[in-house]
Amino acid sequence: MTARQKILIDCDPGHDDAVAILFAARHMDLVGITSVHGNNSLENTTRNALAVVEMGKLDVPVARGCAEPLAQEAVGIAAMHGKSGLDGADIPVPERTVIDTHAVDFIIAMAEQHREELILATIGPETNIAMALRREPRLKSWIREITVMGGSTTTGNVTPAAEFNIFADVEAAWTVFESGIPLRMVGYNVTRQTGFDQSDIDRMRASGRSVAATLADLMAFYLEKQRVGYGLTVAPMHDVCAIVPYVDDSLIDYVHTSARIEKTGTYTRGMTVCDLRTLKSAEAINMRHASAANALVAVGARSRALIDRVVDTLLTYD
Ligand code: RIB
Ligand code: CA
Repeated sequence: MTARQKILIDCDPGHDDAVAILFAARHMDLVGITSVHGNNSLENTTRNALAVVEMGKLDVPVARGCAEPLAQEAVGIAAMHGKSGLDGADIPVPERTVIDTHAVDFIIAMAEQHREELILATIGPETNIAMALRREPRLKSWIREITVMGGSTTTGNVTPAAEFNIFADVEAAWTVFESGIPLRMVGYNVTRQTGFDQSDIDRMRASGRSVAATLADLMAFYLEKQRVGYGLTVAPMHDVCAIVPYVDDSLIDYVHTSARIEKTGTYTRGMTVCDLRTLKSAEAINMRHASAANALVAVGARSRALIDRVVDTLLTYD
């Protein structure tokens, strides 16, 4: 049996963050979780991360991270996730506490301990990752790959051009995307169509399992918010899409290309400018202002099969 791949998840729980954590814990060696501002305040995202770990009975350390973006105003909490950041179910206040290491130092420590093996999943604003890169440049050779839920090759969600995780800390995203570390990006173009529908919620509720019942309540809340807010018919499971390729690499399609962060556009700040042109010849590439490929960018997914795999996994919890 091959050893499980090692992953650290940086997150802002968040309904879909919760699913990503529970999915990763069943299929990978989840060495740690770090919290960051984003969907809600750092206090709430940290508490929510602890609550998810407790709900799943996971033996995974949680480290508290950065409370605000590097160099911009905070964009404010995401109403989609409710006042607590994880509304919709009666979740006990966690008894567990965070470790006494800051998330930035913990990311560096885990990357050094698991040199050239660690996959770093960023499924919230990338503030902690950017701070870690600035503090310890050797991360560039220690981290195997950074898997990002963020950006989009088409429309944004928080603006017509920008997706929330990027828009919430644009300078941090720029630091990560220009780091030279191998990147795997799944954006809103894929994740908006990849989510739980009512039948998935019904399946979780009918299982009679406690965790699945709690998740069903959470996802019913989230689905309603997404239906009313964006007219979606699914509760998009954005974040687990950043984890799935390490478990089943047949479910999401990627192209290796350039993905750059727009920092200055009046209407486009926070956009991920992904080059999906089919430039072939060196002449065409030179003529068309193409920049070097720096990421595997998701361009499609077998969403139904992916969600079935996720629900199957969630049903393994008590
Ligand atoms: O735009 C979707 C992303 O923003 C997801 O990570 C969701 O949890 C929110 O953080
Ligand atoms: Ca998130």
